[in-house]
Amino acid sequence: MIRTLNRTTLMLFLLLALAVGLFSLRYLAPEPPLGAPDVLANRFAGAALAIHAGLGATALILGPWQFFRRRDGRRGAGHRIVGVIYIVACLLSAPAGLLLAFGATAGPIAGLGFGLLALAWFSTTAMGLRAVRLGDYQAHRRWMIRSFALTFAAVTLRLYLFGGPLVGFAGLDAYRAIAFLCWVPNLLAAEVLLRMRPSSRLPAAAGR
Ligand code: HEM
Repeated sequence: MIRTLNRTTLMLFLLLALAVGLFSLRYLAPEPPLGAPDVLANRFAGAALAIHAGLGATALILGPWQFFRRRDGRRGAGHRIVGVIYIVACLLSAPAGLLLAFGATAGPIAGLGFGLLALAWFSTTAMGLRAVRLGDYQAHRRWMIRSFALTFAAVTLRLYLFGGPLVGFAGLDAYRAIAFLCWVPNLLAAEVLLRMRPSSRLPAAAGR
Protein backbone atom coordinates (compact mmCIF):
# COMPACT_ATOMS: atom_id res chain seq x y z
CA MET A 1 0.00 0.00 0.00
CA ILE A 2 2.90 2.33 0.69
CA ARG A 3 3.90 1.80 -2.92
CA THR A 4 0.37 2.67 -3.99
CA LEU A 5 -0.23 5.68 -1.79
CA ASN A 6 3.06 7.36 -1.03
CA ARG A 7 4.16 7.78 2.54
CA THR A 8 3.33 11.52 2.65
CA THR A 9 -0.27 10.88 1.59
CA LEU A 10 -0.55 8.08 4.10
CA MET A 11 0.80 10.32 6.88
CA LEU A 12 -1.76 13.01 5.96
CA PHE A 13 -4.57 10.43 6.10
CA LEU A 14 -3.22 9.23 9.44
CA LEU A 15 -3.11 12.74 10.96
CA LEU A 16 -6.63 13.61 9.74
CA ALA A 17 -7.98 10.27 10.99
CA LEU A 18 -6.32 10.73 14.39
CA ALA A 19 -7.62 14.30 14.74
CA VAL A 20 -11.24 13.44 13.85
CA GLY A 21 -11.13 10.14 15.75
CA LEU A 22 -9.76 11.60 18.99
CA PHE A 23 -12.14 14.58 18.87
CA SER A 24 -15.10 12.23 18.32
CA LEU A 25 -14.37 10.41 21.57
CA ARG A 26 -16.01 13.35 23.37
CA TYR A 27 -19.37 11.69 22.61
CA LEU A 28 -18.50 9.04 25.18
CA ALA A 29 -19.09 11.64 27.89
CA PRO A 30 -22.65 11.69 29.35
CA GLU A 31 -22.95 15.35 28.37
CA PRO A 32 -20.60 15.66 25.39
CA PRO A 33 -18.60 18.90 25.38
CA LEU A 34 -18.84 20.68 22.00
CA GLY A 35 -21.48 18.19 20.83
CA ALA A 36 -23.21 19.26 17.59
CA PRO A 37 -26.73 20.45 18.67
CA ASP A 38 -28.42 19.06 15.52
CA VAL A 39 -26.85 15.67 16.13
CA LEU A 40 -27.72 15.65 19.84
CA ALA A 41 -31.31 16.40 18.74
CA ASN A 42 -31.32 13.16 16.70
CA ARG A 43 -34.11 11.08 18.22
CA PHE A 44 -31.79 8.05 18.46
CA ALA A 45 -28.87 9.94 20.03
CA GLY A 46 -27.86 8.72 23.47
CA ALA A 47 -26.52 5.18 23.70
CA ALA A 48 -26.55 4.73 19.90
CA LEU A 49 -24.49 7.90 19.39
CA ALA A 50 -21.99 6.95 22.09
CA ILE A 51 -21.59 3.43 20.64
CA HIS A 52 -21.41 4.73 17.08
CA ALA A 53 -18.96 7.57 17.73
CA GLY A 54 -16.81 5.61 20.20
CA LEU A 55 -16.40 2.54 17.99
CA GLY A 56 -16.26 4.61 14.78
CA ALA A 57 -13.44 6.63 16.33
CA THR A 58 -11.67 3.38 17.28
CA ALA A 59 -11.86 2.18 13.66
CA LEU A 60 -10.71 5.54 12.36
CA ILE A 61 -7.74 5.72 14.73
CA LEU A 62 -6.63 2.12 14.10
CA GLY A 63 -7.39 1.77 10.38
CA PRO A 64 -4.52 3.74 8.83
CA TRP A 65 -1.86 1.72 10.67
CA GLN A 66 -3.01 -1.40 8.84
CA PHE A 67 -1.69 0.00 5.55
CA PHE A 68 1.87 0.42 6.78
CA ARG A 69 4.27 -2.42 6.05
CA ARG A 70 7.52 -3.51 7.53
CA ARG A 71 10.65 -3.15 5.37
CA ASP A 72 10.50 -6.82 4.39
CA GLY A 73 6.99 -6.25 2.99
CA ARG A 74 5.34 -8.37 5.68
CA ARG A 75 2.64 -7.34 8.08
CA GLY A 76 3.70 -7.34 11.71
CA ALA A 77 2.08 -9.55 14.34
CA GLY A 78 0.04 -6.52 15.43
CA HIS A 79 -1.75 -6.50 12.07
CA ARG A 80 -3.99 -9.39 13.08
CA ILE A 81 -4.89 -7.98 16.54
CA VAL A 82 -5.48 -4.44 15.29
CA GLY A 83 -7.42 -5.87 12.35
CA VAL A 84 -9.77 -7.80 14.61
CA ILE A 85 -10.44 -4.70 16.75
CA TYR A 86 -10.96 -2.59 13.58
CA ILE A 87 -13.43 -5.10 12.10
CA VAL A 88 -15.41 -5.53 15.34
CA ALA A 89 -15.54 -1.72 15.77
CA CYS A 90 -16.86 -1.22 12.22
CA LEU A 91 -19.39 -4.06 12.45
CA LEU A 92 -20.87 -2.61 15.67
CA SER A 93 -20.59 1.10 14.79
CA ALA A 94 -22.30 0.66 11.41
CA PRO A 95 -25.67 -0.61 12.77
CA ALA A 96 -25.66 2.21 15.34
CA GLY A 97 -24.95 4.64 12.45
CA LEU A 98 -27.86 3.10 10.52
CA LEU A 99 -30.17 3.70 13.48
CA LEU A 100 -28.97 7.31 13.73
CA ALA A 101 -29.64 7.71 9.98
CA PHE A 102 -33.34 7.05 10.63
CA GLY A 103 -33.36 9.90 13.13
CA ALA A 104 -31.29 12.46 11.18
CA THR A 105 -32.78 15.87 11.88
CA ALA A 106 -31.87 16.95 8.34
CA GLY A 107 -34.60 14.61 7.07
CA PRO A 108 -34.96 11.53 4.87
CA ILE A 109 -32.56 12.53 2.08
CA ALA A 110 -29.72 12.93 4.58
CA GLY A 111 -30.96 9.76 6.28
CA LEU A 112 -30.78 7.90 2.96
CA GLY A 113 -27.20 9.06 2.36
CA PHE A 114 -26.04 7.99 5.82
CA GLY A 115 -28.14 4.82 5.72
CA LEU A 116 -26.58 3.65 2.44
CA LEU A 117 -23.16 4.50 3.87
CA ALA A 118 -23.88 2.35 6.92
CA LEU A 119 -24.92 -0.60 4.75
CA ALA A 120 -21.90 -0.22 2.46
CA TRP A 121 -19.55 0.13 5.46
CA PHE A 122 -20.93 -2.98 7.15
CA SER A 123 -20.92 -5.01 3.90
CA THR A 124 -17.37 -4.14 2.79
CA THR A 125 -16.01 -4.87 6.26
CA ALA A 126 -17.91 -8.16 6.50
CA MET A 127 -16.59 -9.16 3.06
CA GLY A 128 -13.05 -8.35 4.23
CA LEU A 129 -13.57 -10.59 7.26
CA ARG A 130 -15.00 -13.39 5.13
CA ALA A 131 -12.08 -13.18 2.68
CA VAL A 132 -9.43 -13.42 5.38
CA ARG A 133 -11.20 -16.37 6.99
CA LEU A 134 -11.15 -18.11 3.61
CA GLY A 135 -7.44 -17.33 3.28
CA ASP A 136 -8.00 -15.12 0.22
CA TYR A 137 -5.63 -12.31 1.18
CA GLN A 138 -5.87 -10.42 -2.11
CA ALA A 139 -9.65 -10.16 -1.76
CA HIS A 140 -9.17 -9.27 1.92
CA ARG A 141 -6.88 -6.38 0.91
CA ARG A 142 -9.40 -5.11 -1.66
CA TRP A 143 -12.39 -5.23 0.73
CA MET A 144 -10.46 -3.62 3.58
CA ILE A 145 -9.30 -0.76 1.33
CA ARG A 146 -12.98 -0.19 0.45
CA SER A 147 -13.95 -0.47 4.12
CA PHE A 148 -11.39 2.11 5.20
CA ALA A 149 -12.36 4.46 2.33
CA LEU A 150 -15.84 4.40 3.95
CA THR A 151 -14.52 4.75 7.51
CA PHE A 152 -12.70 7.82 6.20
CA ALA A 153 -16.11 9.34 5.37
CA ALA A 154 -16.01 10.63 8.96
CA VAL A 155 -13.04 12.80 7.91
CA THR A 156 -14.36 13.89 4.50
CA LEU A 157 -17.74 14.78 6.06
CA ARG A 158 -16.01 17.18 8.42
CA LEU A 159 -13.79 18.61 5.66
CA TYR A 160 -16.98 19.47 3.73
CA LEU A 161 -18.70 20.84 6.84
CA PHE A 162 -15.77 23.11 7.68
CA GLY A 163 -14.56 23.92 4.14
CA GLY A 164 -17.99 24.19 2.47
CA PRO A 165 -19.05 27.49 4.07
CA LEU A 166 -15.84 29.11 2.79
CA VAL A 167 -17.16 28.65 -0.76
CA GLY A 168 -20.85 29.24 0.05
CA PHE A 169 -21.70 25.54 0.36
CA ALA A 170 -23.63 25.55 3.63
CA GLY A 171 -27.06 25.04 5.13
CA LEU A 172 -29.52 22.17 5.15
CA ASP A 173 -29.33 21.37 1.42
CA ALA A 174 -25.54 21.28 1.60
CA TYR A 175 -25.77 18.89 4.58
CA ARG A 176 -28.10 16.61 2.60
CA ALA A 177 -25.67 16.57 -0.33
CA ILE A 178 -22.76 15.96 2.05
CA ALA A 179 -24.52 12.84 3.36
CA PHE A 180 -23.65 11.35 -0.07
CA LEU A 181 -20.54 13.39 -0.96
CA CYS A 182 -18.75 12.26 2.20
CA TRP A 183 -18.53 8.66 0.97
CA VAL A 184 -19.39 8.10 -2.71
CA PRO A 185 -16.19 9.82 -4.00
CA ASN A 186 -14.15 7.93 -1.36
CA LEU A 187 -15.45 4.64 -2.69
CA LEU A 188 -14.75 5.68 -6.29
CA ALA A 189 -11.22 6.73 -5.30
CA ALA A 190 -10.71 3.31 -3.70
CA GLU A 191 -11.86 1.62 -6.92
CA VAL A 192 -9.44 3.75 -9.00
CA LEU A 193 -6.64 2.82 -6.62
CA LEU A 194 -7.52 -0.85 -6.86
CA ARG A 195 -7.56 -0.72 -10.66
CA MET A 196 -4.13 0.94 -10.65
CA ARG A 197 -2.84 -1.71 -8.24
CA PRO A 198 -5.11 -4.72 -8.58
CA SER A 199 -2.91 -6.82 -6.33
CA SER A 200 -0.01 -6.39 -3.97
CA ARG A 201 3.00 -8.61 -3.61
CA LEU A 202 1.88 -10.75 -0.73
CA PRO A 203 4.28 -13.16 0.88
CA ALA A 204 3.04 -16.51 2.11
CA ALA A 205 0.03 -16.53 4.43
CA ALA A 206 2.07 -15.99 7.59
CA GLY A 207 3.41 -12.70 6.33
CA ARG A 208 0.33 -10.98 4.96
C1 HEM B 1 -18.90 5.09 7.80
C2 HEM B 1 -20.14 4.90 8.26
C3 HEM B 1 -20.83 5.91 9.13
C4 HEM B 1 -22.16 6.17 9.14
C5 HEM B 1 -23.20 5.51 8.32
C6 HEM B 1 -22.40 7.23 10.10
C7 HEM B 1 -23.63 7.76 10.39
C8 HEM B 1 -23.85 8.79 11.27
C9 HEM B 1 -25.09 9.46 11.50
C10 HEM B 1 -26.40 9.12 10.77
C11 HEM B 1 -24.91 10.42 12.42
C12 HEM B 1 -25.98 11.37 12.95
C13 HEM B 1 -26.09 12.54 11.97
C14 HEM B 1 -27.30 13.39 12.21
O1 HEM B 1 -28.09 13.13 13.13
O2 HEM B 1 -27.46 14.38 11.44
C15 HEM B 1 -23.53 10.37 12.80
C16 HEM B 1 -22.93 11.20 13.69
C17 HEM B 1 -21.63 11.05 14.12
N1 HEM B 1 -20.72 10.13 13.70
FE1 HEM B 1 -20.97 8.83 12.21
N2 HEM B 1 -21.20 7.57 10.66
C18 HEM B 1 -20.22 6.79 10.10
C19 HEM B 1 -18.88 6.78 10.42
C20 HEM B 1 -18.33 7.39 11.51
C21 HEM B 1 -16.98 7.24 11.98
C22 HEM B 1 -15.90 6.35 11.36
C23 HEM B 1 -16.85 8.03 13.06
C24 HEM B 1 -15.60 8.19 13.83
C25 HEM B 1 -15.03 9.30 14.03
C26 HEM B 1 -18.12 8.70 13.28
C27 HEM B 1 -18.39 9.61 14.28
C28 HEM B 1 -19.56 10.32 14.40
C29 HEM B 1 -19.73 11.41 15.31
C30 HEM B 1 -18.69 11.96 16.27
C31 HEM B 1 -21.01 11.88 15.13
C32 HEM B 1 -21.67 13.09 15.82
C33 HEM B 1 -21.72 14.22 14.78
C34 HEM B 1 -20.80 15.37 14.94
O3 HEM B 1 -20.39 15.77 16.04
O4 HEM B 1 -20.44 15.95 13.87
N3 HEM B 1 -18.99 8.29 12.33
N4 HEM B 1 -22.91 9.37 12.09
